[in-house]
Amino acid sequence: MDHDTIRNSGSTRSVTQPGATGLLGRLRTATRPAHQALEQHPILRPLPGPALTDTDYLRVLTAFADFYRILEPSLLDELTKLVDKQDTAYRYQPRWPLLRDDLRDLHTVTSGNPPEIPNLPSICDTSTLLGVMYVLEGATQGGRIIAPNLANTLGLNATCGARYFHLYRQGMWQHFKVLLAGYDRRVNNTAATHSAIQVFDALYLHLDHYPPPNRSRP
Ligand code: HEM
Repeated sequence: MDHDTIRNSGSTRSVTQPGATGLLGRLRTATRPAHQALEQHPILRPLPGPALTDTDYLRVLTAFADFYRILEPSLLDELTKLVDKQDTAYRYQPRWPLLRDDLRDLHTVTSGNPPEIPNLPSICDTSTLLGVMYVLEGATQGGRIIAPNLANTLGLNATCGARYFHLYRQGMWQHFKVLLAGYDRRVNNTAATHSAIQVFDALYLHLDHYPPPNRSRP
């Protein structure tokens, strides 16, 4: 079988993904550099590693909570309309409430006013929406590596402190891929890949607002 390889430069992790064609394949190829850059952002870099601290993790949760709190309101209506028109088992689970509850488990509340996030794509059509959703739903897959590390390093799990990183267990990524395949020849692939890259880039810049961990790279 054809396999792509995601390599996490600077670590020993190497993950294989089955090769994909069509819109999924184009989204995957177009966003690979942005994904690799994001994984290496100073805020996210400690997440899969054994030296992860409470402070590192709280920083990630806070930054993600702020991000989803801003992004999701404009997304949810459009997504509901899209899903309602389809015969699909796919359902989007809002991330912000999970992140808020994870923070609450760790005795923290989100800040009053999250920083603004310029450069988010405006969700004006199905192509743009699918590009955004590819990023948000695909992001659950990182949990396959991150959730076990949260258990090992910080003792967190799907009911305490690490709800968000256990989303991969719901299997929605598989349903989303089926939904995406149904749109393969019906949407503007360029618009979809463009909006996916915009989300990666917007999140990267958003993370720059949070103080990086105060230690040198291993
Ligand atoms: C340290 C942080 C991260 C790690 C370690 C990580 C790791 C991974 C892993 C292991 C996969 C699965 C590859 C496979 O299926 O074999 C994946 C997929 C993916 N991740 Fe991440 N990830 C991280 C952060 C993010 C973030 C913040 C986003 C976006 C918000 C993101 C978006 C995606 C997407 C869209 C995919 C699906 C790729 C595809 O199968 O087409 N990731 N990631």
